[in-house]
Amino acid sequence: MKKYVLVGASGRASMMYAKPIEERFKDTAKIVGVFDINPLRIEALKKLAGIEYAPSYTDFDKMIEEQKPDIGIVTTMDSTHHEYICRLMEKGVDVITEKPMTNTIDRCKAILDTQKRTGRNITVAFNYRFIPYVTKAKEVIRSGVLGNIYNVDYEYILNDWHGGDYFRRWHSYEKNIGSLLVHKSTHHFDLINWWIDGTPKEVFAFGERKFWGDDRYKDHGERCLTCENPCKYKYNWDAVPIDRPMYLECESADGYFRDRCLYRNDIDLPDTFSVTCKYEDDILMTYSLVTYGQYEGFRCNITGDKGRLELHYGDSFKSLMPEMKVYSLDGSITVVHPGEGIGDHGGGDARIQDMLFRGVKEDPLGHGATCIDGVKSIMIGICSNISIKEGRKVVLKDELDWTKY
Ligand SMILES: NC(=O)c1ccc[n+]([C@@H]2O[C@H](COP(=O)([O-])OP(=O)(O)OC[C@H]3O[C@@H](n4cnc5c(N)ncnc54)[C@H](O)[C@@H]3O)[C@@H](O)[C@H]2O)c1
Repeated sequence: MKKYVLVGASGRASMMYAKPIEERFKDTAKIVGVFDINPLRIEALKKLAGIEYAPSYTDFDKMIEEQKPDIGIVTTMDSTHHEYICRLMEKGVDVITEKPMTNTIDRCKAILDTQKRTGRNITVAFNYRFIPYVTKAKEVIRSGVLGNIYNVDYEYILNDWHGGDYFRRWHSYEKNIGSLLVHKSTHHFDLINWWIDGTPKEVFAFGERKFWGDDRYKDHGERCLTCENPCKYKYNWDAVPIDRPMYLECESADGYFRDRCLYRNDIDLPDTFSVTCKYEDDILMTYSLVTYGQYEGFRCNITGDKGRLELHYGDSFKSLMPEMKVYSLDGSITVVHPGEGIGDHGGGDARIQDMLFRGVKEDPLGHGATCIDGVKSIMIGICSNISIKEGRKVVLKDELDWTKY
């Protein structure tokens, strides 16, 4: 039986960790403490997840000293991840962190330095790797049918409701996330790195704000709850059961509004992105992200000297095109059917929970993501942000050489 503490009483902590641990992993995992800076949200999470027995803390050090956990699960706002990851390791505690591992070069260095010094273990919870469709793509590529891979073309489409949701709250500001190329695309960059066993080398990127923010909707209010001129994106407080108890009813403690206007003019991040990246071995990758798409999903084409894999997956993880296709130079086309996953994130969440809380005996495809996997994926996003600002190509290892660690 391992002892866990939850660092961050977030929505993610509730649905991905607290509730599943209580419902499915009681024989292997015990939550011995819940920490957050908002005491009301801690109590709301405990009630929703049925873990009222777990002690509450607004003092992080006190929690670690009193509970002596084996593992800390970091699920706070992105810009604070590094602080808790490092403090956990300093106290001899292993870490599971939500993505992105962190969001700046300096914070990334701090994590790598601390890990090297303490020797503790960091797992990045890249749940997308565990979606059956994504795992099947890895199997196809690993089989060698594509030959030597030379080109990857990945497009992620966030639909308007999902994409817009990032512009309602803390994700709308550079200081909290970097940009969506770090917060969201860390998933996508990790998949590409994992699928092709690749190491990113150089990036050039553009980012623009075209759809959200900038007072685009006339006479908008500060938030949906009190808006006198509601738009089609009016927030529905009753759509998601955790929203009222975890956000609306906790506002008095920290002023965190879940339903801020999508057209506010203080939003300071792009909503439209284009990235081009060169990997070691001169593999070329292009990537794009929109946050106001007409459906949700991704398209990805991976081309080698023998074959081309075409992936198209979407509509909030119910497959638009459940099969994937492999095209060969001899003209043959092979259709692969991966099967459907059940539950959040296309079944990925349940499968990663099994690995995290029951332990994996075998991991032939390398699903488990290390600290360095976390670094490689965020470095594409962080360096793309530098490229967008400075209008230049950025060499990743000039900014941070992770191979020294
Ligand atoms: N893997 C996935 O698919 C996935 C899905 C959703 C969220 N996430 C990640 O989970 C994390 C939480 O996201 P969420 O949307 O559930 O967040 P949320 O808004 O529900 O909660 C964020 C929490 O962070 C706390 N917080 C803010 N500043 C803090 C500080 N200085 N110290 C301690 N706590 C602080 C807030 O009080 C709040 O409880 C994010 O890093 C996000 O990227 C991952």
